[in-house]
Amino acid sequence: PASAQALPGGDLAVGGVPLTELADRFGTPCYVVDEDEVRARARAWRAALPDAEVAYAGKAFLCRAMVHWIEEEGLSLDVCSAGELELAAHCGFPAERIVLHGNAKSPEDLRTALRLGVGRVVIDSTGEIARLAALVPAGARQRVLVRVVPGVAAGAHAAVRTGVAGQKFGLPVAGGEAEDAVERVLGQPRLELVGLHCHLGSQITDLDPYVTAVRRLVTLLARLRDKHGVTFPELDLGGGFAIAYRDGEASPDPGAYARRVGGELALRCGEADLPVPRLTVEPGRWIAGPAGVALYRVLAVKRSGNRTFVAVDGGMSDNPRPALYGVRYTVRLVGRPTAAPARAMTVVGRHCEAGDVLAEDVPLPGDVRPGDVLAVPAAGAYHVSMASAYNLVGRPPVAAVRDGRARLLVRRETLDDLRGRDVGV
Ligand code: LLP
Repeated sequence: PASAQALPGGDLAVGGVPLTELADRFGTPCYVVDEDEVRARARAWRAALPDAEVAYAGKAFLCRAMVHWIEEEGLSLDVCSAGELELAAHCGFPAERIVLHGNAKSPEDLRTALRLGVGRVVIDSTGEIARLAALVPAGARQRVLVRVVPGVAAGAHAAVRTGVAGQKFGLPVAGGEAEDAVERVLGQPRLELVGLHCHLGSQITDLDPYVTAVRRLVTLLARLRDKHGVTFPELDLGGGFAIAYRDGEASPDPGAYARRVGGELALRCGEADLPVPRLTVEPGRWIAGPAGVALYRVLAVKRSGNRTFVAVDGGMSDNPRPALYGVRYTVRLVGRPTAAPARAMTVVGRHCEAGDVLAEDVPLPGDVRPGDVLAVPAAGAYHVSMASAYNLVGRPPVAAVRDGRARLLVRRETLDDLRGRDVGV
C-alpha cells in the first residue's frame, strides 16, 4: 500500500503497524487491509467525478467494515448476489444506492432486491425482464438498466473480458439483442428503464476501450431515441480499472478517466443532440486491491529440477489468481535483515497440486528459510472474496490497520466451522 513504510531491521509497516507484529498476532496466512488507503482510493473517484455515481464493486472484497467505509465515503455499491445484498442491508447501507448485477439472478436474488428496495437492477437477459416485472408489486415500479455488449475487447485475460459477444454477460448491440431488450423493458409498466449499462472487462490498463464504448453506446442511444422516442437519464460504464501488481505496471487514473471518457460522452451526446446522461462507474479492484497485503509464513524450502521452491502456509485457496489467470505478483521477505543476494525462487502453497503456485521465479534473498514471513502486496481485491476451503484449510482472517492500530475484521475459518456444515453420514 501507499502507506507501506520500511522499518529498521527489514520489517515493513502498513497503516503504522509492523507486518511481523500482524503475522504474530493474527497468525498466517492472513490478509491486512489499510483502511485509510481504501478510503483515499474511494475518495479519488468521487473527487474525479463529483457529479457521477461511483458504485464500489463488492465482489472485489466485502465485509461489514468495508460496507461502512464505502457508505461513509459517499459511494454506491454494486452487488451480484442476495448474499452481498443482505450484508449491505444488514449494515444499513441505503438500498437506493445499490445496483444489482448478475447474468443468472435467482428468484431469491430478485425477491431480495425488491424487498430491500435496491436502486437499480441491471437486466442481463431477455427472459429476466418478464420474470422481474412479475415480482414487482402492483402500483410499484422498479428502476432498471439494460446491460449491453458494445463489441469492445478489453481486459487482462479471456476469463474477465465481457465487452464482446460470445461470452455469457449482457445483450449484444451488434446482433440487435440489446435493442430488442430495451423495447421489451419499455413495454413493462412495472419497470422503469433509466439507462444502459456496460462492463468491458477487468484489469484494463488504458482508457481507449472506454472511449470506444462511449461512442458505440451514444450511437445506440441516438437510434433508440429515433426509433422509440426515448432518452435516458443514466449511463453506467462499469468498472475494470487495472492496478499495478508489480512495479511499473500501468493503472488508470480517475482524473484522466473523467477527462477522457467524461469528455467523450459530453462531446458525442452534443453531436447527437442527446441529453448527457449521468455517469455511473463501478471500480472494484482499483479501490480495494492496492490497500491489501497477504502475509504468509515459510514452511519449507527445497530444490527440484534446478528450481528453488519456497512453500508457504497459504496458497491457491486464499489466492487462486495465479492459477486462474496467470497473474504475476511481487513477494517480499519481511521482518529480518539479510545481506544474502537475491535468487529466483518459486513461491508455492500448501495445497495438493503442482499448480498451486503463488509467484513463479521471483527474486528472494538466498537465505530465505522456514519461519520467515513473506508479504504479497496488491492483495486486497479478488483474494479473500474468491477464497475457498480447498483441502479443508480454513479461509484466512482479515485485519484492518489504521493509525498504528490493528483490529480483526473477519476471523479465520476454523475446522469447527468446516465440520459444522458436514451434517450427513
Ligand atoms: N461491474 C461489473 C458488472 C463487474 O462484473 C465487475 C467485475 C466490476 C464492475 C468490477 O470490476 P473491477 O473494477 O474490479 O475490475 N476475479 C477476477 C475479476 C473478475 C471481475 C468480475 N467483474 C480477478 O481476480 O481478476
